[in-house]
Amino acid sequence: MSQDTTGSTATAAASTAHNGQAPHVEALENLLHENRKFAPSADFAANSVTSADAYGEAEADRPAFWAKQARELLTWDKDFTEALDWSNPPFAKWFVGGEVNAAYNALDRHVENGLGDRVAIYFEGEPGDTRTYTYAQLTEEVKKAANAFESLGVAKGDRVAVYLPMIPEAVITLLACARIGAVHSVVFGGFSADALRSRIEDAEAKLVVTADGTYRRGKPSALKPAVDEALSKPGHTVQNVVVVKRNGEDVNWVEGRDLWWSDTVDKASNEHTAVGHDSEHPLFILYTSGTTGKPKGILHTTGGYLTQGAYTHKAVFDLHPETDVYWCTADVGWVTGHSYVTYAPLINGATQVMYEGTPDSPHQGRWWEIVEKYKVSILYTAPTAIRTFMKWGRDIPDKYDLSSIRVLGSVGESINPEAWMWYRDVIGGNAGKNGEKKDNPAPIVDTWWQTETGAQMIAPLPGVTATKPGSAQVPLPGIAVDVVDENGQSVANGEGGYLVVREPWPSMLRGIWGDPERFKDTYWSRFEAMYFAGDGAKKDEDGDVWLLGRVDDVMNVSGHRLSTTEIESALVSHPSVAEAAVVGAADETTGQAVVAFVILRGDAVNNGDETVLALRNHVGKEIGPIAKPKQLLIVPELPKTRSGKIVRRLLKDIAEGRDTGDATTLADPGIMTQIAESLRK
Ligand code: PRX
Repeated sequence: MSQDTTGSTATAAASTAHNGQAPHVEALENLLHENRKFAPSADFAANSVTSADAYGEAEADRPAFWAKQARELLTWDKDFTEALDWSNPPFAKWFVGGEVNAAYNALDRHVENGLGDRVAIYFEGEPGDTRTYTYAQLTEEVKKAANAFESLGVAKGDRVAVYLPMIPEAVITLLACARIGAVHSVVFGGFSADALRSRIEDAEAKLVVTADGTYRRGKPSALKPAVDEALSKPGHTVQNVVVVKRNGEDVNWVEGRDLWWSDTVDKASNEHTAVGHDSEHPLFILYTSGTTGKPKGILHTTGGYLTQGAYTHKAVFDLHPETDVYWCTADVGWVTGHSYVTYAPLINGATQVMYEGTPDSPHQGRWWEIVEKYKVSILYTAPTAIRTFMKWGRDIPDKYDLSSIRVLGSVGESINPEAWMWYRDVIGGNAGKNGEKKDNPAPIVDTWWQTETGAQMIAPLPGVTATKPGSAQVPLPGIAVDVVDENGQSVANGEGGYLVVREPWPSMLRGIWGDPERFKDTYWSRFEAMYFAGDGAKKDEDGDVWLLGRVDDVMNVSGHRLSTTEIESALVSHPSVAEAAVVGAADETTGQAVVAFVILRGDAVNNGDETVLALRNHVGKEIGPIAKPKQLLIVPELPKTRSGKIVRRLLKDIAEGRDTGDATTLADPGIMTQIAESLRK
């Protein structure tokens, strides 16, 4: 790259590399050879909440199947007149004309039905503090928060940004917003002030709800300073910031703008009547990474989202709310923390555990201690966590009594068969702390879905499906998933292709906030009349689906979605960087890890490790610590085709420590040798 290369041409170069780039399919043909199968025990099948009949019933009349679930699982203020309006695709309307209140369904109605004393949330703070909320208590807290937010001028349709740790106030805030019809937009606490600001601005939020901080590995970790920084420049729409006191650290205070939760919510009235909102009223926006630098505000609405969330939560986890104790370890900052912590479990009247901290604080047995303490019976977590526990060794979980566990769930990325078997044997097979083994280990449900799909789409039913290690297997009843080739034709069993959804589903995203064209382009233009998920998949000989990872420029790090382009843009915004290319390299624990290749500007000084550190920190500042490249390599050039497209496959080879493959399509085939030499130095 010549001396005068500027940041902007570098960005342009990076973006040409993505535009029009056909998704790569080599990986799709790489069929797995896994043929173990585990049928449900007779006992489990006999007591299961669903049966195989659900598939046929849904197949016969999909909208009618969902209408039945909507009426059974939710209490409607006004019944709907039509299950699905698909007259203007891809803009679906589900349960047309119906009115429903999410918070009433999650809370008040259970109290009215005599379940007020049932525990809704067992909260376990990282330092060991605990709180228990019954349904009656949680209802009261949400009513207070709803009154407090209304008194701050938040009305139906207004947006509320939420930047909170995993504490009960997060669930209370979300449900209070839903109650009054305000639209929440949660920003994960691991995102930076800049990322928070851009999301607040995009959604034009009126209120921010945050905390002074949280705890991370035994130490206080601040949140409020990021909010202060995000709001430090004018031009935003935020009027107030409500602050939960969590770790007691000193905070800066902006008089007139900032309010303590204890002075507003705690002092508000606990009387509040919920009214029904239109089934298509926006419930929340959740930003997720796409293939461009700008995150997408995924929009979900009310009736369909709640219906599919509640149905799948019940069917896929075989929920028996009177007896089960459910624990989903996801943070509320991600969609799993919305659908399977905040909404579905409470709609279904479940008792759940909520844990604030990290799995190794204060010791590596913390999760298993929690399972033993609360007798958790359904555990829902991510493969990256399972692989971490594998690394720490089975003697840690073996010390605890995990016999209460009867269903195990996995989400976020494909679970490799080895981790699946470990999960089954060590966690699902544990029958007590003396090394006893169960005759029938708990079934594992591997659930495929996305922020966009709102709820689970592909998963076994634990009392019905014979499960296979590593496969999400079957579309859920009422969901029309397929694997197609380049031309949108269904592939035969045994072949690979692209994962699509052929029919609208209740919890589908309704759009990208403020950008209907991007919604159509991103998801509906690749294949005619089909939703393109961005994932590669194969069908095995039985027709079961195996997910093969993203086929676009989206990485999956510890089950979190990161965009290569977004990180490249962050790097190129640093004054020393001329050009950057980012790839997701296979990583034993996190699934993928971010590896960045950077060309410095001609006038920039390369101070080795110091420069690398500065650039990694720059990404941390622009996006958040989760996006920091694990490895950052300063190189003299990048491999490009004659048309200027970066050949990521070759960079991936280097990042994964392989000899680089065929480099003959490069404009300058000698570049790979140059890069290899510079890295050796
Ligand atoms: O690539 C798929 C992967 O995660 C992506 C969705 O990420 P996100 O919107 O952040 O939602 C994560 C939690 C639902 C998908 O496009 N993914 C998610 N679950 C699985 C999966 N890949 C394989 N198997 C899964 N079970």
